Amino acid sequence: MRPSQLTLDLAPLAGNKWALHGQARRRQRAGDEVLMLTIGEPDQPADPLLIAAAKTALDQGRTRYSNGQGEAGLLAALVARYQGRSPSPLSADNFICLPGTQTALYVALRAILEPGDEVLVGDPLYATYESVIVACGARPVLVPLNSEADFIFDAARAGAFITEKTKALLLNNPHNPTGAVLPRQALRALGELAKQHDLWIVADEVYEALIFDPEATPFASPWDWADLHDRSIIVSSISKSHAAPGFRSGWLLASRDFCRVALPLAEALLFGNQPFIADATAQVLNAADKAVSERMRADYARRARLVASLLHGRAGLEVFAPQAGLFLLVDVTATGLDGQGFARRLLDEQAVAVMPGASFGTRIDNWLRLSLTVSDAQLIEASARILAQAAKEWQHE
Ligand SMILES: Cc1ncc(COP(=O)(O)O)c(C=O)c1O
Repeated sequence: MRPSQLTLDLAPLAGNKWALHGQARRRQRAGDEVLMLTIGEPDQPADPLLIAAAKTALDQGRTRYSNGQGEAGLLAALVARYQGRSPSPLSADNFICLPGTQTALYVALRAILEPGDEVLVGDPLYATYESVIVACGARPVLVPLNSEADFIFDAARAGAFITEKTKALLLNNPHNPTGAVLPRQALRALGELAKQHDLWIVADEVYEALIFDPEATPFASPWDWADLHDRSIIVSSISKSHAAPGFRSGWLLASRDFCRVALPLAEALLFGNQPFIADATAQVLNAADKAVSERMRADYARRARLVASLLHGRAGLEVFAPQAGLFLLVDVTATGLDGQGFARRLLDEQAVAVMPGASFGTRIDNWLRLSLTVSDAQLIEASARILAQAAKEWQHE
């Protein structure tokens, strides 16, 4: 029996991206000590309020079926969370609750794309974006983002890639893997482009709570402008903001018309997420205490500065300073190796696992992505080993 072509088309997109990470994990399981700077899972414990609220909700028997849109308490908390930003009044009907940004992204794209449509997405890009676009029968069109231009998704550049098949802009703001945040004017220019060519804007804002560069605030979202509401879909979750990716608790925010037509799709996929998780999510969204995300912002800002101070300008390495998120990019061009080659030798010779830039599109093949989700001490040790490896390669040049 043969699976669908669409399913088969996904295999090469997932494929090798995580090969090095997998190899490092196998070495760890075999007893080797490997410093893991690969995946981006916050190292801080999940928000204690979230855990307590989930336990209470479980004890209260909140384990029955929900509905396709979301629990009333969570929908109300989402209205309150986004109302301050919205130029027009929001209601529960502007939201659909889904398990994580990833599923929300799938529902958003599945609801707007026809087979053969094209989606413009910045390159470098988050590892699952190509898959989720292809899973919706469409084609990702990669718009180059340049380090010299701070990896900003530029409207004029994007405009050159528009064809009659272009249906949507997929924005990731703040951005993984670069940690760049879109300035307000750049976002507005993208909004104008979308209006001019009648495009949807899908904005993944999962790192919004992790902006640590004061220059990158206040954060700008397509939802800030009423004239973009009919074409914008915002997706996010508590995975990063509350250090709780395993809760799988996310949502989409869009026009009421969009949510109404997308609801049957969300129901076909899932038929409602878990009431006890919805209750716990509502509690943390409503809480005045934002200590968990404050602590994360402080940790990641400090660690990004720390690693930059240890690596930037040494042995030919160049660090791109992130404004947000969990990662930091290092350019290894001067070592004479590409990111893949450097990462492989780093694992083999220094027992440090990092992600090669090639796992995130076509633009950062000569870069490494380091996750900042380990302790400062581990980052100092990892940086010393990266430097040692770079110095070794550099001398060979
Ligand atoms: C850019 C981006 N979008 C989405 C996700 C997935 O988020 P969630 O856990 O909410 O599905 C991640 C996870 O790393 C991410 O980096």
